[in-house]
Amino acid sequence: MRPKRPILVVLALSALIAVLTAVVAQQALADDSVEGYFSWTRLNPQRNFIPSAHATPKDIYVNDVGAESATSRSFPFPEGSVLVKEVVDEASLSVAMLPSMRKVAGFDPDNNDWQYAMFVRQDDGSFAGEWVGTDHEMHAMCSSCHAGAAESDYAFLNYTGN
Ligand code: HEC
Repeated sequence: MRPKRPILVVLALSALIAVLTAVVAQQALADDSVEGYFSWTRLNPQRNFIPSAHATPKDIYVNDVGAESATSRSFPFPEGSVLVKEVVDEASLSVAMLPSMRKVAGFDPDNNDWQYAMFVRQDDGSFAGEWVGTDHEMHAMCSSCHAGAAESDYAFLNYTGN
């Protein structure tokens, strides 16, 4: 039996590593998602939720990490801050898209380290999308306009009432 033991230990360790890797990957995925944003801090005092073909105000949420910055207007936002804007679809009267931004230290220092994503509602109610890299054309689009809010760290926050 003796000579077999190291093999058993190696097998047990590889199984453990496989399980741990799966758990860590799962957590990374969960952290990437903005599902649950509805329980975050809403930044516009009154709910908008106005479906319209025209440009209308949207409900905007911030996660716990960024809430203090956004509500007290103290910048820059800390790493891990996430802001989510609800876009309501005229036909379905439900939230169809979630343009989102999150602060990732070192991601894009020239543009205040914001990473952008556009999550789109799926038939099962979940949101699908991904945080794009700086080489993605969407990044340049989002970032160049949000640079107009440089004095509030690229977040417009013009709807917070303070
Ligand atoms: C042409 C300008 C423009 C572009 C392009 C743009 N935004 Fe915005 N964004 C705004 C403005 C203005 C607001 C303030 C709220 C509003 O008017 O809807 C805003 C608000 C937001 C907010 C809420 C936080 C804040 O800044 O107040 C998020 C999140 C957001 N945008 C994500 C995105 C993403 C993701 C993209 C790219 C897919 C994008 N935006 C592209 C102008 C823009």
